[in-house]
Amino acid sequence: MSILIKNGNIITATDNYVADIFIEGETIKTIGKNLNVKADQEIDATGKLVFPGGIDPHVHLDMPFMGTFSSDSYETGTRAALHGGTTMVIDFILQTQGKSLHDALKEWKGRSDNNCVGDYSFHMAVTDFNDDTKKEIKEFIEDEGIVSFKTFMAYKGALMIDDRQMIGLMEEVKKHGGLINVHATNGDMIDYLVAKHKAEGKLSPLYHYLSQPEITEAEASERFVDMASYTGCPGYIVHLTCEGALNAVRNATRRNQKMFVETCIQYLIIDASLYEREDGAKWVMSPPLREKKDQATLWAGINQGLVQVVATDHCPFKWEQKLMGKDDFSKIPNGHPAIENRMELLFSEGVAKNKITLNKYVEVACTNPAKIFGMFPRKGTIAVGSDADIVIFDANEKHTISAKSHHMNVDYSAYEGWELTGKVKTVLLRGEVAIDENKCLLQKGFGKFIKRKKVSQTI
Ligand code: URP
Ligand code: ZN
Ligand code: ZN
Repeated sequence: MSILIKNGNIITATDNYVADIFIEGETIKTIGKNLNVKADQEIDATGKLVFPGGIDPHVHLDMPFMGTFSSDSYETGTRAALHGGTTMVIDFILQTQGKSLHDALKEWKGRSDNNCVGDYSFHMAVTDFNDDTKKEIKEFIEDEGIVSFKTFMAYKGALMIDDRQMIGLMEEVKKHGGLINVHATNGDMIDYLVAKHKAEGKLSPLYHYLSQPEITEAEASERFVDMASYTGCPGYIVHLTCEGALNAVRNATRRNQKMFVETCIQYLIIDASLYEREDGAKWVMSPPLREKKDQATLWAGINQGLVQVVATDHCPFKWEQKLMGKDDFSKIPNGHPAIENRMELLFSEGVAKNKITLNKYVEVACTNPAKIFGMFPRKGTIAVGSDADIVIFDANEKHTISAKSHHMNVDYSAYEGWELTGKVKTVLLRGEVAIDENKCLLQKGFGKFIKRKKVSQTI
């Protein structure tokens, strides 16, 4: 099967030019002006943007969490991602304390194998680092192609590890060429504040926000970058939300550390005032939404190169599941749906409003996730030899977000009624048309597990 995309305005992290793209099989064969080749299918992209498939390196599909499961399966989640221009996601395997990493891998494969529509990989969340787990790190990196290890400095009693475990894990991961991801908030401080608010009868969603003030994130981020500096392990802070935490990273940058930062689309465009609404539980996530001043810091951080990735932390729960915490904010399952909306929201709020350039857009949504997580240049760019993961995008089309038309398995949208500029028109995944005019043409099972390289080869 071959496809010729004619006359599109190709955008990569560094370039912006009009040309044709010839695709044969799964990969890009030729790029050039007025290519004189015959293809099985021709797509006219005149007047459209053509950029690499988005990579969302932070999603939670079908994940057991807080007494329930996130509501998107691997099928519905990766299909919704494709509708929104995201061709690959990285999901999280969670180790159960007392069990092995391989036990968890087996459980997650049971839910994801042959169920994905789009491509995917896993980060391995280590929640119990001990002599047995230590032996598994090398096997994950070298045999499984899973090279990033997630740690939680919060969710005490469930997922959190202490600093002793963190240092040990960092030394092992560094030795084998991997990277540590972190949910950097101070779990003990948060635990104290949650208990205090509950004892005072303060139980509404607003107290979720007030139990995780900025200092809890700034302190943990500083501690994490210091431990990473000491061990020399590359680090990646997930879902960074605020000025205080970003300042900790500035220090790491001055020391020339390999320290990367992800923020998520929600932290750039919505704020904590939503917690005062009756349906505030829809936005209960950790860390919580912050202030307008933090949004400004994050946009600036993107342009300064301090924030390299914009992800989603997609972790959807239906309204009925959110109601598990109707009388107690600490029982509201944490997370919100955005896997389908990230690329269009970031374009509309970022590019169309002149906050970031088109090249920066591709860099933070497509290219940097591929580089940081060991997939570049196979993924994350438009180049000869790369996978033909391509989005054809109308920069001018206006549309409105609604739960009535989205494809995520959740009965509300966190962005209901938002009017956006710019729409995904056609999406290709490894040389196959995945989305055409709002229709998904691929079946579950098409999505491949992507084995990743040691990050020491790509960053
Ligand atoms: O609220 C969130 N973020 N839910 C998913 C788990 C996590 O901490 O990333
Ligand atoms: Zn987290
Ligand atoms: Zn998450």
